[in-house]
Amino acid sequence: MIEPEIDIHLDPFWIDQALRSDVAEGLASQPKELPPKWFYDDRGSNLFDQITRLPDYYPTRREREILEREVDVIAERSGADTVVELGSGTSEKTRIVLDALAATGRLWRYVPFDNSEATLRAAAADLAAAYEGLAVHGVVGDFEHHMGHIPHGGCRLIMLLGGTIGNFPPARRKDFLASVADTMAPGDTFLLGFDLVKDHDRLIAAYDDPAGVTAAFNRNVLSVINHRLDADFDLEQFEHEVSFDVEEEWIEMWLLSRRPQRVTIGGLGLAVDFAQGERMRTEISAKFRSENIGPELASVGLAMEQLWTDAQGDYALVLSRMVG
Ligand code: SAH
Ligand code: TRP
Repeated sequence: MIEPEIDIHLDPFWIDQALRSDVAEGLASQPKELPPKWFYDDRGSNLFDQITRLPDYYPTRREREILEREVDVIAERSGADTVVELGSGTSEKTRIVLDALAATGRLWRYVPFDNSEATLRAAAADLAAAYEGLAVHGVVGDFEHHMGHIPHGGCRLIMLLGGTIGNFPPARRKDFLASVADTMAPGDTFLLGFDLVKDHDRLIAAYDDPAGVTAAFNRNVLSVINHRLDADFDLEQFEHEVSFDVEEEWIEMWLLSRRPQRVTIGGLGLAVDFAQGERMRTEISAKFRSENIGPELASVGLAMEQLWTDAQGDYALVLSRMVG
């Protein structure tokens, strides 16, 4: 087994600065807002892993279905010997892709990229042990800031799975896609997974399970702020709420204040008041229409090569490469 190599671009000081400015800005806006990248500390990553197994959370299963069906085509079309995975999390579905590349005899390197260090380390160790001869080079960073640190070399298949693309607001989504295009060398390909617009009740159910796992995940962002910024959010006093914005076609995740309350954020020297019933937005999850993806990729210089959906048409994967 080759020992994984892990680069760390998120030192505690950087994280602290970034969290401070995100929280200060978000709590000053109307409605209040908290940035979702902070969901994923160790506990948050673990809760997300549980979400992917919930009966009503279909995206993970649909994405796996498409990957299993199309992976040989993806392996061949990409010609890749390296997989770079942005927001890799537990790297579970990644194995489908690594198996297919290993079967072609071309698999050389896996580059997981995530801002959750513990989750990335665990996944990197598992995969290095499972794939003899695989060079695992992990990057702990923020994919909105540290894309330039992705190792070069080889023919790379860059992946963003899990519908994570839907968690960017539109302007930042474009910046993010442009930065992906920017890191791509000729011959590299980009595999993107995204959730499709569908029946609103099914969309809502995917983000509001009866067991309360999603609610615990949503509230976890408060506990991250409590720990890192010496705040006193009382998690019990915030209720998980989900809605679907029919104009924007995105899911919105909220935390609703159960009573009038004042929260102190010691690390920011800030006291923030919440009215009873006031809603603070924690996450959006955009849902897409297949026909819009090609133009969106084209706007950052990527040419869509092929798009696949699962049998029910719930979810899609698209493979693209640089124009020219
Ligand atoms: N790819 C996995 C996990 C998706 S959840 C799957 O398909 O199931 C989103 C992942 O992105 C989490 O692991 C989270 O830690 C990571 N993430 C979220 N925001 C990030 C950011 N700004 N930079 C790097 N990773 C991020
Ligand atoms: N990328 C996932 C999605 O949009 C993230 C996610 C799943 C999520 N369930 C959630 C984010 C609940 C916040 C709350 O589907």
